[in-house]
Amino acid sequence: MIELALPWPDRAIVIRDVEDPESWLRAEELTIARAFTLEKRRREWMLARVAAKLLARRRECGGGLKPAPHVSFSHSGPWAAAAIDIAPVGIDVEVVRNISEHAARHFLTSEQTAQMEPGTIPNRLTHFWCAKEAAWKQRGGAVPFLKGVPLVLENESSSGLRFDAAETFAIGDVIVALSPRA
Ligand SMILES: CC(C)(COP(=O)(O)OP(=O)(O)OC[C@H]1O[C@@H](n2cnc3c(N)ncnc32)[C@H](O)[C@@H]1OP(=O)(O)O)[C@@H](O)C(=O)NCCC(=O)NCCS
Repeated sequence: MIELALPWPDRAIVIRDVEDPESWLRAEELTIARAFTLEKRRREWMLARVAAKLLARRRECGGGLKPAPHVSFSHSGPWAAAAIDIAPVGIDVEVVRNISEHAARHFLTSEQTAQMEPGTIPNRLTHFWCAKEAAWKQRGGAVPFLKGVPLVLENESSSGLRFDAAETFAIGDVIVALSPRA
């Protein structure tokens, strides 16, 4: 198994290449996984659950909080992500692809696009996309479309962007976004 070193180890995890992911799953989870016809869908679904179990175990070891946790999942390419918090949380992982910035109009408002334009971080559009997805999930999909998800850029660093509704982190060819701590 490979795990990415994230700046939020108590709340998020991104992994790939888990041997025998089925061995981690409970019977009812196995039933769900085996119901997927597509191998890719089955693998990403299982990997995201393994990620959540690893993170939950880590939180427990750290004397983690006991209230029923909220969990969020994401997958991209070989990677699967999970986030856990005591309040609604959202995570998104994306393997960086070459995307035209013209696509911004599909999920960013003109104000948000204007916030993106002075940015110098590589793959800035994907950072905004990831942040929107994480914020959308934190809201439980209550906002019908990503474009309607409020997002204000607060800070840019060499490794990521901080927004009011999410923080992003780039590592290798992967970008991860996580909603703020509860
Ligand atoms: C649903 C959506 C997040 C899936 O995007 P994706 O890149 O395939 O997804 P990811 O791998 O990042 O995340 C998938 C996970 O999102 C989670 N998810 C789906 N619906 C959710 C919701 N309403 N609330 C919270 N999480 C949700 C699921 O856990 C899913 O993983 P699972 O199927 O293994 O359980 C995406 O379609 C979306 O953003 N929808 C918003 C509506 C929209 O604007 N669509 C047009 C975009 S231009």
